[in-house]
Amino acid sequence: MSVLEVKDLVTKFYTLDGVVHAVNGVSFDLEEGETLAIVGESGSGKSVTMMSLLGLIPTPPGKIESGEAIFTTPEGSRDLLQMSVHDLRDVRGGQIGFVFQDPISTLNPILTIGEQIAETLTKHLSITREQARQRTIKLLSSVGIPDPELRYKSYPFQFSGGMRQRVVIAIAISCTPKIIIADEPTTALDVTVQAQIVELFRRLREDLGVAVIWITHDLGVVAGLADRVLVMYGGRVAEIAQVDDLYESPQHPYTVGLLGALPRIDARESRRLVSIQGSPPDLLIPLEHCPFAWRCEYAFERCWEEIPPLIPVAVRHQAACFYNLEEGRPRDVQ
Ligand SMILES: Nc1ncnc2c1ncn2[C@@H]1O[C@H](COP(=O)(O)OP(=O)(O)OP(=O)(O)O)[C@@H](O)[C@H]1O
Ligand code: SF4
Ligand SMILES: [Mg+2]
Repeated sequence: MSVLEVKDLVTKFYTLDGVVHAVNGVSFDLEEGETLAIVGESGSGKSVTMMSLLGLIPTPPGKIESGEAIFTTPEGSRDLLQMSVHDLRDVRGGQIGFVFQDPISTLNPILTIGEQIAETLTKHLSITREQARQRTIKLLSSVGIPDPELRYKSYPFQFSGGMRQRVVIAIAISCTPKIIIADEPTTALDVTVQAQIVELFRRLREDLGVAVIWITHDLGVVAGLADRVLVMYGGRVAEIAQVDDLYESPQHPYTVGLLGALPRIDARESRRLVSIQGSPPDLLIPLEHCPFAWRCEYAFERCWEEIPPLIPVAVRHQAACFYNLEEGRPRDVQ
């Protein structure tokens, strides 16, 4: 069952330089308990997509122009994009947890670690302060923070970056969410701590059965953690597939470029996405052709005339490309 179904999300920024077409019709779904990795080069719209779902786009200059984001729980289905600021605040941090790159931006410097987690708990659940304190101590312990009773009283500045990120993860899981959205949660941490945080996530996901959206540049993390991968390009979905399908038979020239020398599926080592030649599209200019056409060695006439839709290419595998790489000829699509 899908816990989240995003359809045709369009988000723009009205800036002094012009309209930034940041997200241009993104659609995807997230199954209960699955981990979806989102990859793509800088500026491809990964963060803006997630911020749109969480109601965190600054307005102005941002505006969600259209789309749906149906969030389904046993209580029913709701469109996150139609919810009031108040209701969305309730869902955010309660049923949908989030972890960003920089834990400092999420934590309040003047509250102790324990107070911040307990505050989230009392805000979203009907429990007493003492129950919240007890549960906070358990949460700190479950994310691997030693001496949780003592650390309850520490302030964020007294923690290392890795420990702060564990606190943010404790807040994200505190109300047993259905979804956790993690936007490059390990990028600001050193390599050993990155591996520990990924391991922590793997364990929590199994223990809690929570669905995870994980934005990353690290293909080692994608291979080791994700069930499916969504590749973004120019504010659109270029390709979405099960992780082994994507690694074994990428169907979009951009994905092929990103993966570079294909990493082995069981690769656990940290491995960044490959930079590919050419520049990403200028998002100030609305496009009427394939956004990858300038950089694509397979581009043909049709690519300059239409925007390719997401085309089903195999089971649970879609690619926004008019060309069939395996057969070396254009696809037969209307
Ligand atoms: N507040 C804003 N005002 C204007 N433009 C913005 C704003 N926030 C994001 N954008 C633009 O939206 C586009 C998509 O940005 P986004 O942050 O989603 O990229 P990203 O894929 O997350 O990149 P990265 O890998 O660097 O985090 C970019 O062109 C960015 O400059
Ligand atoms: S649609 Fe055309 S230009 Fe775009 S990625 Fe496919 S082959 Fe390349
Ligand atoms: Mg980002």
